[in-house]
Amino acid sequence: MAKRIQFARTGGPEVLELIDVEPAAPGAGEVRIKNHAIGLNFIDIYFRTGLYPAPSMPSGLGTEGAGVVEAVGEGVDHLEVGDRVAYAQGPLGSYAEVHVLPGEKVVKLPEDIDFETAAAGMLKGLTVQYLLRQTFPLEGGETILFHAAAGGVGSIACQWASALGVKVIATVGSAEKAEIAKRNGAWATINYREENVVERVRELTDGAMVPVVYDSVGKDTWAISLDCLAPRGLMVSFGNASGAVEGINVGILNQKGSLYLTRPSLNGYADSRERLEEMCLDLFDMLESGKVRIDIGQRFALAEAGKAQESLASRGTTGSTVLIP
Ligand SMILES: NC(=O)c1ccc[n+]([C@@H]2O[C@H](COP(=O)([O-])OP(=O)(O)OC[C@H]3O[C@@H](n4cnc5c(N)ncnc54)[C@H](OP(=O)(O)O)[C@@H]3O)[C@@H](O)[C@H]2O)c1
Repeated sequence: MAKRIQFARTGGPEVLELIDVEPAAPGAGEVRIKNHAIGLNFIDIYFRTGLYPAPSMPSGLGTEGAGVVEAVGEGVDHLEVGDRVAYAQGPLGSYAEVHVLPGEKVVKLPEDIDFETAAAGMLKGLTVQYLLRQTFPLEGGETILFHAAAGGVGSIACQWASALGVKVIATVGSAEKAEIAKRNGAWATINYREENVVERVRELTDGAMVPVVYDSVGKDTWAISLDCLAPRGLMVSFGNASGAVEGINVGILNQKGSLYLTRPSLNGYADSRERLEEMCLDLFDMLESGKVRIDIGQRFALAEAGKAQESLASRGTTGSTVLIP
């Protein structure tokens, strides 16, 4: 038997149950992985609360983990039993001791990347890869605004962008988080709970404002983000930590300066094996070169998944969080 977190109804952390299941044999095209570390992500909270509907109920939770291949289904030829691997996509259910998923979503880990780093950095690191290298391909020399910069995605983004020679204006919710963003290479920080973000961005850019805003906070920062953009700038709305952005009148993009808007997702960018492999190469290169270091701020036992989610949802975490099975 193996332990797994599941939920049969949406709601608070109390809906998460730790149950025993018989590990399934992988079907054609699938592999079974014994997880050594599991990544905690804000999207897991969206599924638990019902903001994003789970495909079926009861449901497993989580899409990220790292471990060792335990069994290989028919037709999978790039993986073998015993391979060290990581994944960040696929069916819900990584909050578990073992997880069965399509082999095409699983990549081999370079020797020098440990399981915790991989579980803490795959989903968030691949997200930063597409945000900075594809959605708005940064060339160096730009000044950008990145919200929630001391969190999991934000900590990686500050390091990656500064390695590209980009000046990151990082918003954060406390003085301690401002220190973290600075350590990760942010050029300037703004405590958006206390300061006027638009005025500070105006000062910092000598009135030019920024060509791109990366906004995963959602509802609370939507209007602020648009006001921080230079004419024809790009608003990248990629998350809902404070709630979803709703009821937009597209005319606002005209009023604020012929702006562009995109709402991207990892699955929309890593949508083929080839693209996933390319993005992983880039991410692993950043990790192995030491330009990006995955900051694991918290570790919880798998059984404490609800407590871990509560901490993430209440802004109590910094960097990445992993669950240990
Ligand atoms: N679209 C994609 O492909 C994709 C992929 C990965 C992640 N994401 C999104 O990126 C964001 C970051 O994910 P993460 O897992 O790394 O989380 P995280 O950044 O570690 O945690 C979220 C942070 O958001 C900030 N925040 C601001 N207002 C908040 C509120 N009302 N409630 C809770 N948090 C609030 C908090 O930082 P402060 O205290 O500093 O404000 C909090 O620590 C999430 O919105 C997630 O959905 C999107």
